[in-house]
Amino acid sequence: MYRTKTCGELRISDVGQVVTLAGWVQRTRKMGGMTFVDLRDRYGITQLVFNAETNASLCEQSNHLGREFVIQVTGEVSERSSKNSKIPTGDIEIIVSELNVLNSSEVPPFTIEDESDGGDDIRMKYRYLDLRRNAVRKNLELRHKMTMEVRRYLDGKGFLEVETPMLIGSTPEGARDFVVPSRMNPGCFYALPQSPQTLKQLLMVAGFDRYFQIVKCFRDEDLRADRQPEFTQIDCEMSFVEQDDVINLFEGMAKHLFKELRGVELTEPFLRMPWEEAMRRFGSDKPDMRFGMEFVELMDILKGHGFSVFDEAEYIGGICAEGAASYTRKQIDQLTDWVKRPQIGAKGLVYARVQDDGTVKSSVDKFYSQDVLQQMKEKFGAKPGDLILILSGADTMKTRKQLCELRLEMGNRLGLRDKNKFALLWVVDFPMFEWSEEEGRLMAMHHPFTHPKDEDIPLLDTDPAAVRADAYDMVCNGIEVGGGSIRIHDSKLQAKMFEILGFTPEKAKEQFGFLMNAFKYGAPPHGGLAYGLDRWVSIFAGLDSIRDCIAFPKNNSGRDVMLDAPAALDQKQLDELNLIVDIKE
Ligand code: AMO
Ligand code: AMP
Repeated sequence: MYRTKTCGELRISDVGQVVTLAGWVQRTRKMGGMTFVDLRDRYGITQLVFNAETNASLCEQSNHLGREFVIQVTGEVSERSSKNSKIPTGDIEIIVSELNVLNSSEVPPFTIEDESDGGDDIRMKYRYLDLRRNAVRKNLELRHKMTMEVRRYLDGKGFLEVETPMLIGSTPEGARDFVVPSRMNPGCFYALPQSPQTLKQLLMVAGFDRYFQIVKCFRDEDLRADRQPEFTQIDCEMSFVEQDDVINLFEGMAKHLFKELRGVELTEPFLRMPWEEAMRRFGSDKPDMRFGMEFVELMDILKGHGFSVFDEAEYIGGICAEGAASYTRKQIDQLTDWVKRPQIGAKGLVYARVQDDGTVKSSVDKFYSQDVLQQMKEKFGAKPGDLILILSGADTMKTRKQLCELRLEMGNRLGLRDKNKFALLWVVDFPMFEWSEEEGRLMAMHHPFTHPKDEDIPLLDTDPAAVRADAYDMVCNGIEVGGGSIRIHDSKLQAKMFEILGFTPEKAKEQFGFLMNAFKYGAPPHGGLAYGLDRWVSIFAGLDSIRDCIAFPKNNSGRDVMLDAPAALDQKQLDELNLIVDIKE
């Protein structure tokens, strides 16, 4: 037997027992005639003691243990004279009587402790060492618990977990596909699924009624803190449901997860906010509702006073940062530079301070009387000590997006985005289509299989851009944690949708013939949703990036620096696949 106990379980009640432990040497300290070793495994850390007075040769041996050596020790559990209240095993230590070195280790490239001295790149290159650290391991444990709870919850509701293939054809969802060449079908490629969307719909046609899958999805898109090229969805689909049925069931699941994994009871029904309202009040389809600072539109008050910037604007809107009137001129200049960065793209920033006597002092005082500024103050409900920040622009949507960034930034600066606070809502009634500048045509905002709202179906012929969809996103703390829709189950309506999206009947048949065919054989009304597992775990763990809850993530250029992937292929492999590589400048 390699061990009788783990490094995390011994307590004061175990004193006197003789135990055998195995693990990694985290660190050694020599103090007088004693050597102390912190022995670590997945379960915790236990202090080992080697005493030169009682066993000189063993103590001498212990002095040759390096960091990350793998050892096995036997000894008696003893009460510690100086206890460590920071760790659960801090009351005891092991007086070692036998030491067996199971494996040595080179000096690791960074220290494997809670506060590591390793930078991001080096930790990713040696991810297997990084994963020995508590902080990272805890995230993966949470991830495991989460998938267990998801399976338990959905199994209890009659859902069947069904696997769908990874080698499929293209499923357009807005991102680029990762493709895989087929050796047996020269010149042909599989695509890795961006999601199992069409397959889960076929499972509904097959009568499976309630499906789920914890499934890898692949999207070749630009990466950010909350985006990986391969990520995991909790993918679900149900038959004979309306929007409320799906929303209620998955709101139940969210509440279950919060309770089981965070001990947070969310008792109220989640807010449901139409997309249009979310854009108007927060400039975002995923508003962070942990704090207020709602947009106030000022076109009626501020236009027509000779300030050309505002007179020429289509949209003028502001936010009121409570208690921020103390911002110095320098801080405001810095904020102005911040909104003018290309990533935000604003042209400038107007501010107004509400002073102690209630009067308003603004950067554009010469155009506005105190009377007008007071009207503005009233509209915000601003109080002495508050700072009003105003953006304007020729494009309402763009300006709202800029104001949204400013709101989030002010939320950060004022400490209003507490990671231990959770604000969840559903954003509903998304537009069916959005205009793509790049493609020069309407694109499906969610995906082409989404059902339009019944009352908007007549608009498909007259004003498709105004059509709203039975589509919904779940948002937590300003992050889209899930999204779904009621689907079209009628092949004629589906064909019309493809037509509006600019598919010729031939092209639609080529890409989606299998789905439209299936719909001819009794497709039930159906709908569903997919949660982003990585995002859920990272919110629960309070992480800044989803990378930290993925065992082996990719970096921001989509590389796995440990495996050194992606990489070039051997000529032999290329030949077998009938591939010629022709890198363009
Ligand atoms: P959608 O594209 O909204 O919907 O994806 C569902 C959820 O998956 C998560 N997600 C991601 N997480 C990490 N990295 C990424 N690159 C990434 N992309 C998406 C988000 C998102 O809410 N088939 C539909 C679902 C449906 O209609 O049922 C779909 O894939 O949390
Ligand atoms: P300008 O006319 O560019 O000198 O700007 C006059 C003032 O208006 C400056 O304080 C700018 O920061 C501000 N400003 C310029 N453009 C905008 C805008 N689009 N929205 C809000 N303020 C702006």
